[in-house]
Amino acid sequence: MCGIFGYINYLVPKTRGEIINTLVEGLQRQEYRGYDSAGLAIDGLNDGEVVIYREVGKVAALKNLIKEANPPTENVIDAHVGIAHTRWATHGQPLRKNCHPQRSDVRNEFVVVHNGIITNFREIRELLSSKGFQFESDTDTECIAKLAKFIYDNNKEHNLDFSQLAKLVALELEGAYGLIVKSTHFPDEVVATRKGSPLLIGVKTEKKLKVDFVDVEFPDMNVTEEVNIASATNRNLLNVANTDNLRHSQSRAFLSEDGIPMATEFFIASDPAAVIEHTKKVLFLEDDDIAHIYDGELHIHRVRREAGASTIRSIQTLEMELNEIMKGSFDHFMQKEIFEQPESVINTMRGRIDFEKKTVQLGGLRSFLPTIRRCRRLIMIACGTSYHSCLATRSTFEELTEIPVSVELASDFLDRKSPVFRDDVCVFVSQSGETADTMLALQYCIERGALTVGVVNSVGSSISRQTNCGVHINAGPEIGVASTKAYTSQYIALTLFALSLSDDSMSKKSRREAIIDGLYHISSQIKEVLLLNDKIKELCRTELNDHKSLLLLGRGYQFATALEGALKIKEISYMHSEGVLAGELKHGVLALVDENLPIIALATRDSLFPKVISAIEQVTARSGKPIVICNKGDFKDHDLQTLEVPATVDCLQGLLNVIPLQLASYHLAVMKGFNVDFPRNLAKSVTVE
Ligand code: UD1
Ligand code: F6R
Repeated sequence: MCGIFGYINYLVPKTRGEIINTLVEGLQRQEYRGYDSAGLAIDGLNDGEVVIYREVGKVAALKNLIKEANPPTENVIDAHVGIAHTRWATHGQPLRKNCHPQRSDVRNEFVVVHNGIITNFREIRELLSSKGFQFESDTDTECIAKLAKFIYDNNKEHNLDFSQLAKLVALELEGAYGLIVKSTHFPDEVVATRKGSPLLIGVKTEKKLKVDFVDVEFPDMNVTEEVNIASATNRNLLNVANTDNLRHSQSRAFLSEDGIPMATEFFIASDPAAVIEHTKKVLFLEDDDIAHIYDGELHIHRVRREAGASTIRSIQTLEMELNEIMKGSFDHFMQKEIFEQPESVINTMRGRIDFEKKTVQLGGLRSFLPTIRRCRRLIMIACGTSYHSCLATRSTFEELTEIPVSVELASDFLDRKSPVFRDDVCVFVSQSGETADTMLALQYCIERGALTVGVVNSVGSSISRQTNCGVHINAGPEIGVASTKAYTSQYIALTLFALSLSDDSMSKKSRREAIIDGLYHISSQIKEVLLLNDKIKELCRTELNDHKSLLLLGRGYQFATALEGALKIKEISYMHSEGVLAGELKHGVLALVDENLPIIALATRDSLFPKVISAIEQVTARSGKPIVICNKGDFKDHDLQTLEVPATVDCLQGLLNVIPLQLASYHLAVMKGFNVDFPRNLAKSVTVE
């Protein structure tokens, strides 16, 4: 996720080099959130000059870029505003031109860093383009910088101050944002505002702070009543009719005592992790707050007048340590990511499903659907967990599209030099979008003229760029090496893909609608499954922890779940585990079964339920005591341990069934004292063959 950082020093002399270092370190502190590019803006040596550095890749790459640019670093600056950003691409690929800060014009009059998404950026962009602005990036953010300049230029006679200008800009923005703006027109000043995206301000002074709050300053007159961008084309755009009515009130002295300026540093960030090493005194902005910092003072304005709003923002003391902040209330990233799944699955579906009309639209595939429908077969290619998400959804594709589907492990597909033809469609599934085996398979299919489709989490990754079209799963960065939320999001994205392919088929309509209804409830059902956490932990302690080996039985849709559960368990708890197709039990694996071998059986209801029961009976007849993952109320008359999960449509049930297995693998690893987020011998992104 993107990270914002701003550093403002007032009467605290700092060299330019120190300022750059503080900004870079502020970004490094937010690296754990995941990002694909970084940038910062500081003052140039000449008055009214702002310099921007931006680079794709890690913060270290930005650091190198600055080093190569070799800016003067020795000169000491008493008052300065620097802003910085790490970006996780949403609008446009990770390219230099799309990194933040984004700017208003070639003179960098307004520069902006932004987290979130501006949903009406196209309208603003169109309007500003018609007024002569030339856009340089694919981002939604750029329209904010240009809008600021536009409003500023059109209201020169009103002498708007920076916060008034920010208010006018904020009033035009729809969507979610946390943002900081720096301007050559307001040297050593900065504005920061938020809506739906977190932003906080850390304050550091030598003397103890006199107050532990900041007054909120409300406008006497609502500027919105005077300014409206929608009608702007018909009027003399954005001329504030009567700025004299705007009160420029003074808050109760926050930091300047009786007008005596006090040395102060401010740190603006989207994440406390970036601030805590400098100060523990922080103020959290609320939605629609506009923070305006200048002359060592912090003023909070409101975008709108509103009744009953709180009139102060208190300055709080952060009690948390850095490590705690990064992982929130969780001990490990993997655990955090498992518990994020109710939200990450929604992010995968956001804007893509109309639950009322029961339709699915995947923007990235729309124009390719007719070609894909005509293909002679679909080949799904991936590695590891991503391969399992293909297995989990394969029969949904077969059922809904009636196109033959094969699922391939990338390395094996290449080893076999599988035949691929021009009328094949090859689907590459990858969290990182950089996995070497999957990339090589992609090259192989491109050379043979097949249409290539990516299902990828990392926007701008190699697979995302090199495929003809695709779907971003939008699960957000996954940091734990063991893939969890990416699996459930891939599963959903692939299901959406199958649904869109079949949306021209009347005979599949009711099935499609049932799946869409199932997806509607999936997030709350995942939440419900997560409540099993304590029970799973206890089962791990009593039934699994002391054993060397574990079998997971599943069939039909649940075979993929069994394989994925087994992979999770072996990769982080280093315990041998094996996913077994329940129908294959009697062909060999049964020889392993006795009263000592732990077994987990996936026995939720679908058309194969009776066959799974029969497999469980084969196991119990050999004194095996499987733990059964089942739907509520089932297995009451068996003397077996159960983990009850809610029921959903058969082809989505794996989304719920996999969660107890993710949790089990997590707890087993913790109990054994292993490094959950970085298991031995494994890397998050396997970029070697
Ligand atoms: C896109 C935007 C999203 C915006 C939405 C609104 C991007 C990355 N996404 O989402 O921010 O909110 O429009 O209309 O800008 N692609 C590949 N291979 C892959 C994955 C994707 O070629 O592996 C291509 C797609 O074909 C598409 C583009 O990348 O052209 C973006 O894909 P995706 O993010 O899935 O598209 P939308 O959901 O439409
Ligand atoms: C398992 C895991 C790996 C990856 C595999 C493919 O938890 O993380 O098995 O799934 O290396 O990686 P991506 O999806 O990035 O192509």
